[in-house]
Amino acid sequence: MNTSIQKAAEAIRTPGGLLVFTGAGISVESGIPSFRGQGGLWEQYDPAFIEIENFYARSEYCWAQIKKIFYDHWGAASPNPAHYAIAAMQKHGWVDTIVTQNIDALHQRAGARDVVEFHGTLDRLVCTKCRFRATPTPELLSGAVPRCPDCGAMLKPDFVFFGEGIPEEASDRAFRSAMTASAILVVGTSGEVMPACQLPYVVKRHGGLVIEVNPDESAFTRGGITDIFLQGKAGEVLPKLLAAAENEAKDPA
Ligand code: APR
Repeated sequence: MNTSIQKAAEAIRTPGGLLVFTGAGISVESGIPSFRGQGGLWEQYDPAFIEIENFYARSEYCWAQIKKIFYDHWGAASPNPAHYAIAAMQKHGWVDTIVTQNIDALHQRAGARDVVEFHGTLDRLVCTKCRFRATPTPELLSGAVPRCPDCGAMLKPDFVFFGEGIPEEASDRAFRSAMTASAILVVGTSGEVMPACQLPYVVKRHGGLVIEVNPDESAFTRGGITDIFLQGKAGEVLPKLLAAAENEAKDPA
């Protein structure tokens, strides 16, 4: 009997055919809260602190929130089995591109390579004036408003604030992969934030299969574009999907 997992396992094994697309839900089992839904960050905090105009207008307040919500826990989270399963899929040669909306760098820490960080990363600070860039250190993050050691201007975490554009290279790579992918594996995203949430629609329009992993329905499931819905937590479903695809490799039905 061909279960959903077996159908999905068959679909993800095309060499270089898979676009992996992840959101905050994949890091929930690593202890990082999602943004929306039960216990989500935007239920506890007003996202204005990462709105770009506000960041320049109320820098001290915004930086205090950024440190409290992101950097104070930075490094405490570890990749979970879902991140490792995706890195293993990439090692098998099944993955064309991994696109994440997350800024936690957990895919890379699980061994994934060349990850497209569609919304940038917490793992880099940039100067708002000169070209200075560096990974965050306690020294660089010190002070109410972290300052560039080269020119003294304010530093900014290198993730995309509300009101900012998507890094061009990230957007190009993501949408180019979506146009040729034979399948997209959508993991842990509500599908509500543009333009990232267009990726599954582009894959579908170009004849690819949409596979989704989420304990709840998302805009994609509700919108009816999900072909295979593997309902459950990423940390539980993805290792099963990987095992099924590896078995498929050994004794294809
Ligand atoms: N496994 C898989 N999915 C999960 C899990 C889990 N253990 N727990 C929760 N989820 C799902 C939720 O059901 C929800 O659909 O993860 C999704 C998280 O949705 P959001 O919090 O909206 O995160 P995301 O879709 O990544 O948000 C997109 O919004 O605020 C911006 O820039 C921010 O990148 C973020 C973007």
